[in-house]
Amino acid sequence: TTNRTFTMIKPDAVGNGHIGSILNDILAAGFRIVALKYTRLTKETAGAFYAVHKERPFYKDLVDFMSSGPIVAAILEKENAVEDFRKLIGATDPAKAEPGTIRNKYAQSIEANAVHGSDSNENAAIEGSFFFSALEQH
Ligand code: CMP
Repeated sequence: TTNRTFTMIKPDAVGNGHIGSILNDILAAGFRIVALKYTRLTKETAGAFYAVHKERPFYKDLVDFMSSGPIVAAILEKENAVEDFRKLIGATDPAKAEPGTIRNKYAQSIEANAVHGSDSNENAAIEGSFFFSALEQH
């Protein structure tokens, strides 16, 4: 079944000039861009987006990093989108990401790992709605 996932190109990849290459890889893998936005998170909005990780030791650093520069947010559509997108981006730790994956090619560290990808259909809907109104999710 066709479904949707949500992604962010994180501040490291935006700062390193990888927006175009990453969007190209996403399109080449067969995803359709449903919604797309160049924006910036504050500490407050980054903290809210990652609230599920609030008790984790890396939460404060993650929030500081994600609010350190502009990001690109997008909703993507494809057959089996959530699972296929996680394959395309590779492991959270780029040192463990398979060759050819987005994190293998563009990420530096487990924190500055170039892209986010939703881990379930339910979270994809929640995360997409964090950035895009219903009217923008056509
Ligand atoms: P993301 O998929 O955006 O979701 C949570 C993020 O926390 C994750 O990517 C990583 O960039 C970040 N993070 C930082 N440190 C860790 C860690 N030790 N384990 C897992 N995620 C981490």
